[in-house]
Amino acid sequence: MLNLDFHPTGRHFLQIPGPSPVPDRILRAMSYPTIDHRGPEFGALGLQVLAKIQQIFQTKHPVVIYPASGTGAWEAALSNICSPGDHVLMYESGHFAWLWQKLATRLQLNAEVIALPGTDASSGLPNSWRKGVQADMIEARLKADTAHTIKAVCVVHNETSTGVTSNIAAVRKAIDAAGHPALLVVDTISGLASAEYKHDTWGVDVTVSGSQKGLMLPPGISFNAISPKALEISKTAKLPKSFWAWDEIVEMNKTGYWPYTPNTNLLYGLNEACDMLLNPQHGGLSMVFARHQRWGEGVRAAVKAWGLEIQCADASVYSPVLTGVITPQGVDADAVRKTIYERFDCSLGTGLGKIKGRMFRIGHLGDCNDLTLIAALGGCEMGMKLSGIKLAGSGVQAAMDYFAGHAAPKELAKAA
Ligand SMILES: Cc1ncc(COP(=O)(O)O)c(C=O)c1O
Repeated sequence: MLNLDFHPTGRHFLQIPGPSPVPDRILRAMSYPTIDHRGPEFGALGLQVLAKIQQIFQTKHPVVIYPASGTGAWEAALSNICSPGDHVLMYESGHFAWLWQKLATRLQLNAEVIALPGTDASSGLPNSWRKGVQADMIEARLKADTAHTIKAVCVVHNETSTGVTSNIAAVRKAIDAAGHPALLVVDTISGLASAEYKHDTWGVDVTVSGSQKGLMLPPGISFNAISPKALEISKTAKLPKSFWAWDEIVEMNKTGYWPYTPNTNLLYGLNEACDMLLNPQHGGLSMVFARHQRWGEGVRAAVKAWGLEIQCADASVYSPVLTGVITPQGVDADAVRKTIYERFDCSLGTGLGKIKGRMFRIGHLGDCNDLTLIAALGGCEMGMKLSGIKLAGSGVQAAMDYFAGHAAPKELAKAA
C-alpha cells in the first residue's frame, strides 16, 4: 500500500510559497456540512463571501470566484476579454509570467513577450528574473503601437518563482502616459492578502488570484476581479468560452448563487479567511501587509548573514511573500532542498524553469509567525551545512536578532 504518512511526529514545516499552511480555524469552518447550493442558506453565504472578497481586492466591482486553480483564472481572464488572434503584451518577470504567455499562445493569441535582456554577471541568471516589471519598457512599446493593436498588457504582481513584487501603479501610469487603450491584466495569485494590492486605485482591469497563498485556503478556488471597462469589452470578445464566461456568473452572483455547482466548503473557508484578514480588532489588511513585510525583512537578514545572494536583485521590489536564495555555483539547490526535507521535515520551494537547480525559495506568508520562520531557517542552515555549503555566518542568529529587535506590528498597535 502507498504510504502517504511521511510525518509521524510534530508539524511539517510547509515553507513553500503556496499552498501555505491552512489555519485550524479555517479547516474547522470547511468541515461544516455541504448544503444545497440552490437553497436560501447558500444564497446568504454567497452574498457574504462575494462582499468580503471585494474588500480583499480593494474593489467595488464584481469579483468572480471559480472552482479552479489559478491557471483556470488566467485562462478566464484572457478568454473573456480577447478575440481569436488578438495581440497581447506580456512581461516576462519569471516562470509564472512565462507559463501565462504559453497559455495565451495555446489560446491562439498573439502573445508578444518583453523582458529585460541579458544575464546577471554575478549569478549568470536572467536579468529579467531578478528585477521587477520595467514600466518604462511597457510605455515605450505601447507608444510604438500607434495602431493600437495591443489589446491587453499582462503582468505578474508577485512573481512566485523569483520573490519579486512589481510596481503595478507604475505599469498603469505607463499605459496612461502612452495614451494607449490596452487593458491592464494582473496576476496576483501569490500577492493577494499578503502584499498590498489595490485593484480600483491602481486602475487594474482584470486581477487574477487564487486561494492557496495569502488567503490561507487549500488550492481549489480562484478569482477574476473585473473593472467596468473589462466587463464591457467582454460583451463583444469572441474567444470561445462557456465555463469561464463572466456574464452568467456575474448575473447570478447578484443573488448569491452560481450557474453551476460552486465549491461550497471552500467558500465556508473563504468566508472565515476574510473574517480573519479583515478583522478591525487585528488591524485589518494594513496589519496583514505590515507583518508580511517584517517577515520578509527577517528572512532576508538570514540570507545576507549566510553570505548568499537573494534572487531579487532590487531592494525596492523585495517580495514580502517569499525569498529566493541563490546557492553557490556548482551546488544543486534541489539536492539541498531534498536534504532539508528528509532530515528536518521542512518543504521549501524549488527553482522553476530557467533557474532550476540554482536557487530555492522560502515562503513567509499566511499562517506563519516569527518562530515558524526561525525553525524553517534552522532547517535551511543545517541542511546547507550538511550539503557542504560554506556559510559566512548564522542566518538563524541574524533573523532572531531582527525579530527580537523589531516588534511585531500587533505589539506596536497594542502599545499605541
Ligand atoms: C504567480 C502565479 N501565477 C499562477 C500560478 C498558477 O496557479 P495554479 O498552480 O493554482 O494553477 C501560480 C501558482 O503557484 C503562481 O504563483
